[in-house]
Amino acid sequence: MARQRRLFYKNNTKERDRLFGAVAPLRPGMNKRTFWWSVMRPVLGWLLLALFAVSCAEILDISMFYVTKLVVDYFSTGSPEALNFQHALFLLLILAGMGGFTSLFWRLSGFAASHALPATYQRMVQSLFAYVAGHNPGYFYDHFAGALATKIRNVADGYFDLQEGMLFSTIGILVSIGGAFIMFTAIHPYLLLVILCWMVAFAISYRVLGPGKRHYSKEVSLRGSRKTGHLVDAMSNMLTVSLFARREKEVRNFRHVLYDEFDAKRASWRYSDLMALTNTLITLTARLVLMTIVAYLWFEKQATTGDIVLVFGIAGTLSTQLRQMAQLLNRLYSALGSIDEGLETLLVPHGILDVPHALPLVITRGEVRFDHVSFAYAGRASVLKDFTLVIQPGEKVGLVGRSGAGKTTLMSLLLRFYDVTKGAILIDGQNIRDITQESLRDQVSMVPQEPLLFHRTILENIRYGKPEATKEEVESAAKKALAHDFILALPEGYDTKVGERGVKLSGGQRQRIAIARAILKNAPILVLDEATASLDSESEVAISEALHNLVEQKTVIAIAHRLSTLREMTRILVMDGGQIIEDGTHDALLAQGGLYASLWETQAGGFLQEE
Ligand SMILES: Nc1ncnc2c1ncn2[C@@H]1O[C@H](COP(=O)(O)OP(=O)(O)O)[C@@H](O)[C@H]1O
Ligand SMILES: [Mg+2]
Repeated sequence: MARQRRLFYKNNTKERDRLFGAVAPLRPGMNKRTFWWSVMRPVLGWLLLALFAVSCAEILDISMFYVTKLVVDYFSTGSPEALNFQHALFLLLILAGMGGFTSLFWRLSGFAASHALPATYQRMVQSLFAYVAGHNPGYFYDHFAGALATKIRNVADGYFDLQEGMLFSTIGILVSIGGAFIMFTAIHPYLLLVILCWMVAFAISYRVLGPGKRHYSKEVSLRGSRKTGHLVDAMSNMLTVSLFARREKEVRNFRHVLYDEFDAKRASWRYSDLMALTNTLITLTARLVLMTIVAYLWFEKQATTGDIVLVFGIAGTLSTQLRQMAQLLNRLYSALGSIDEGLETLLVPHGILDVPHALPLVITRGEVRFDHVSFAYAGRASVLKDFTLVIQPGEKVGLVGRSGAGKTTLMSLLLRFYDVTKGAILIDGQNIRDITQESLRDQVSMVPQEPLLFHRTILENIRYGKPEATKEEVESAAKKALAHDFILALPEGYDTKVGERGVKLSGGQRQRIAIARAILKNAPILVLDEATASLDSESEVAISEALHNLVEQKTVIAIAHRLSTLREMTRILVMDGGQIIEDGTHDALLAQGGLYASLWETQAGGFLQEE
């Protein structure tokens, strides 16, 4: 263990900061090149060093064939009497020295690349994450979390493949081809002609067979991600699978998905073999012709024994590298494909932007005004039409209405998760379009309808509302939200992790933690979206009272399912079909005998009937 740890750098925070740099500022619609450039800049020096080292190593590598030729010629043309031992030794030492330097340059390239490539990778993930986190919530309804995470990974993987391939394979191939051109020309132009024909044949075969290979690869990856999607969907619905005893059916269904992938994989494999076969035929022919020519030239005394060794060696290297090249090209193509596809989804413009020079929201009183607001979700019928509502500073407003009436939508608009299509929303006279989103969400607290928690400890989840809060502050907020007691009963108390999205807690427990989080945040405007709906009636009443004492000075908008919790509110609004149809105190609305009164009646202290 101790031995293993020495592999890592110690205390390298500073160095990492330098390699990572600040989060790269990404812009919507960046293409492969501009994105790469903006992310890779801090490690450009290392990348160039790696490029230099690889080039040197490859040039030395190919030059060694030439020095070998010189050595062979030296020994084969002379006799022991005519040659000088020191001279011979010198030539051999040069050869050995070149070998040494080659591997030195390889190590140098590895050292430089170990800085450049992983750092670029991390930086890409970091910058993409930062950009994607700037999308408004609506974006995340349209894209699955798993798919987004996969895309971020694909882009980074794609660039890694691309850079590694370019650095460690492409340069070698180019240098070998260039070296072969030069050296063969020096021996005889015929040889050059053969090499040229070889390259052309390779290019043609790739042009003919390459698209097929790409088609198969794409199909394999497509069916592969379909398989992953199927697996994830099934895994997250395991409860349903058990409830309906459908395990065998699921396994059977999954088999078909696997068959699909298997078919594609096998076809792709066979096609690769076909390509390899073609390549081998071309290569063998080329090598045969090269050998014949150089042997012929030797008999004609136009080539030396060293030349035979040289041609033999280079032809071998070239055929290996061309074989790799075919694989490399496929890998590069698929890398380019996944980069394009990923950036296209990830780097779409942010739906909601701060206006230039936006000012922070300043709340002095806490008045909220919806001024002739209209809104529709993209491609849907409008939810709000010419909606006007003024909530006075410090007012406690209860909002009720059947499900689908538009209550949550109204609150999402207040938090500017979406922009209104017409009209304006003003807080203390400031249009929320003109202030920074950060300051808006800093000063409006919301407990959402279905609060989700991070798979972190309870302490961290509550502290999310105020990162600098002390443990005492967290506990006091938890007490007010009636969460303290159940938290202490958990095996690790405040340090208990809550499972993915908070699944290891009951719905009511999740809500109480979300309420504690909002209490801790202590913002001047508080929005509760059916925040206590999963609690039993007793705790619900207790929390409603606790909140009521807490929010003395604040403006509160509480959406509730159970009307009994709203009796303390100073004003109750009844929403239906995107309109306020009733507005008054509990008693006044009961006396009015409208929708509220009938809801109250059917509910009789219980729940609102769903539509
Ligand atoms: N993200 C969304 N995309 C499209 N339509 C939505 C979205 N969220 C809600 N809706 C629709 O908007 C209407 C109002 O929904 P909502 O505001 O959630 O109602 P409430 O909170 O009063 O139950 C519903 O018809 C619902 O189907
Ligand atoms: Mg709702």
